[in-house]
Parts: sequence; C-alpha cells; structure tokens
Amino acid sequence: MSESRRQTPLAALLAERIRRQGPLTFADYMRECLYHPLYGYYSRSEARRFSDYYTSVDVHPIFGRLLARQLAEMWTQMGRPETFCVVEAGAGVGRLAGHILDFAETRLPELYGALRYAVVERSKARREQAAALLARHSAAGRCEVALEIPARIPQGCLISNELVDALPVHRVVMRGGALRELFVTERGGELAEEPAPLSTCALGEYFAALGVQLREGQQAEAGLEACDWITEIGRRIERGFLLTADYGREAAELYDERHMRGTLLAYEKHRASEEYYAAPGEQDLTAHVNFTALERWGARSGLERVGRVSQTEFLLALGQGNDFADLYEPGASEADRVRARLLLKNLIFPEGMGERFSVLIQHKGVPGAKLTGLAGIAGPR
Ligand SMILES: C[S@@+](CC[C@H](N)C(=O)[O-])C[C@H]1O[C@@H](n2cnc3c(N)ncnc32)[C@H](O)[C@@H]1O
Repeated sequence: MSESRRQTPLAALLAERIRRQGPLTFADYMRECLYHPLYGYYSRSEARRFSDYYTSVDVHPIFGRLLARQLAEMWTQMGRPETFCVVEAGAGVGRLAGHILDFAETRLPELYGALRYAVVERSKARREQAAALLARHSAAGRCEVALEIPARIPQGCLISNELVDALPVHRVVMRGGALRELFVTERGGELAEEPAPLSTCALGEYFAALGVQLREGQQAEAGLEACDWITEIGRRIERGFLLTADYGREAAELYDERHMRGTLLAYEKHRASEEYYAAPGEQDLTAHVNFTALERWGARSGLERVGRVSQTEFLLALGQGNDFADLYEPGASEADRVRARLLLKNLIFPEGMGERFSVLIQHKGVPGAKLTGLAGIAGPR
C-alpha cells in the first residue's frame, strides 16, 4: 500500500465489494465515500469538520442575513403569498437556516410570519444537530427538519450552499478519440483506477448537450446526479425561485485546456490533493459545479435563468443599501464592529471566497423578477 494511504474501514469494505461484484463507477465510489450510512464523510456529526474545510456560512452570519433580505424581496415580488416555503437543500447542521430565521424574526417580521422553512439534510447526525439548533423556530411553526425535499413547493424558493459540489460525479477520459469511463477497481488490496467502456449512454449525451468536445488525454467529471437533481427540483417548484451558491464555472471554462485533469479534489485538513483513494470516508471529495449544465437541465422542467453573479457582487449589492449595517449585533462595541468588517472581507474579497463562488438564481413563473442581489450585472452573463 502506498504510504499516503490509510486503510480506513470503508476502504476495506469497498475493496471487498469490488472483489465480489466488479469495479465501481467513480460516482458510486464518491457516493459511498461521502454518504455511506456508517462510514461516509458526511454521515458523521460535524465534530471534525473545521479541520478540513469551512463554508461562507461559517465565516459570519452576514451571509445568511443578506440572503434573508433577498428572500424577502422574492416574497414581495411574488405578491407576498400567505405562505412562503423556503427549502434549504443540503443544510448541514442548520447554521445558515439559523442565521436566516433569527434575522427574519427580528428584522423582517412580516416575512417571518409567512415563512415555512424546510431544512433538508441527508445525514442523520446533521439533521439531529439542526433540530436542536432550530428548536425555537420549529416550536413557533416556522421550521421543520426533513430528509427529503417536499414533493410540492407551491410558492417559495429552494436554496443551497455548497450542496451541488458535493453530489457524486462520473469521471471520463478521452482516449484514441473515444470517451472512456474511469472506474474504481482493486489491485492487491489497494483501490486503483481503470478506464473501460461507458457505464451509461447518459455520459455521451451529457457532453453532447453541452457542446463539449474533450481533448485527447483529457480527464473530466460529468455531474449526472446534479442534472437529475435540478430537473427534479424544477418539477417540484410550482412557482418561485431556485438559488444555488457554489464553487464552479460555465462548461466552456470547466472543460478547457487548463483543466486537462478535471476539477475533482480531495480535502483533508485544509489540504487539497488528487489523492482520491488516500482515506475513503475520511476526506471530503468535491468537483466544480457546471453552471451551464444546471441551466440546461433546469430548463427541462421549466426553470429559467434570472442571473448569475459572483458571491462578491451578490453580497455587495445586497449589503450596500444600508452600508452593511446588518453586520453588527445590537449594541456591538467598536472592536466587535472592526472584527465583523474583517470577516466580511473574507467573504467578498476576490482572493477570499468572494470571486470563486457564484450565486445562480433561476425562476419558474415569476417573469420579470428584479432581484437586488443580481443588480450588479448589466445584461445576461
Ligand atoms: C459541503 S456540505 C454543505 C453544508 C451547508 N450547506 C454549509 O454551507 O455549511 C454538503 C451537505 O449536503 C448534504 N447532502 C448531500 N446530498 C444531499 C441530498 N441529496 N439531500 C440532502 N442533503 C444532501 C451533505 O450531507 C452535507 O451536509
């Protein structure tokens, strides 16, 4: 076994499964690594998480507060329906939900009165943490914690932060002018990769629909699960919005000559690597989001693009209306205010998270919506 590899319990289970049933697609491997009920990276409680990565939500509540303002504007533009469903998919331990609900309760009470906030999370441990964190809002009838996205979202908005980059991807390579798939196999007790014919014709269709022709030798990911996910969301939203905050690019950039090895990364202790088999179940695996695919596959179930901006543009546009007064707790000292401003810089500065993250907003049945978070853009991007 190579030295950088750890024989985790999941590695042993997967090697045994491959011996019995044959190689796994990378999507199956990634699903097990992240979501295996016992050993999956996201199946555990969050205890270790900050040692591996953090998201915008962890930096400061301002991200959630400004998102709450954007939701209030969506609600208004939809004619202030009596019930406004906000569904947060992949909500983790409910931290963002807490920031949004706490802020709405005190600063946007009319929105709060209309809110039905569903915190949707696949991991049982995280759902339990979210239920404890949000107990007060649940008792007030404003919030529920669930495993599945509701079958119908009559009027509202589905939001997600760093969910789509955690959905399993297939991997392919262009060899001799033909697309081959990279499977996960086992050699001498170690997990290894091997190219073989495609497991599904959906892979060829994916690249054809995007108009992408990979170069000879190029490796790439195909987010088929993200495509299915967004098409299904479009079916469930009857009227409203879908807001996706994530790390990614348009297809033309994702598959260009600068990405000959794809964008998949393994994260452990804030170190990114291409060692996808180093510690199955004990490291995060994530691939850039293909925003073009989200638009194409969303359109199949009626989702239309409103706009996409960087996180920097989104937060600046929403915060500048009141000079970022939402940053501060009531009665905050000057030192607290300075600290809050420094944290904000992390969220909006190009070298921080600001430029690497995008916010894509799609709508269904709300034509002509004008959203402040997208106001920084002049025409479609
Ligand atoms: C990178 S974490 C982001 C968590 C949170 N949104 C944040 O910003 O801190 C991705 C989360 O999505 C959850 N997840 C992945 N696939 C899911 C699905 N199909 N339905 C619900 N939750 C899912 C994972 O369990 C994990 O908690």
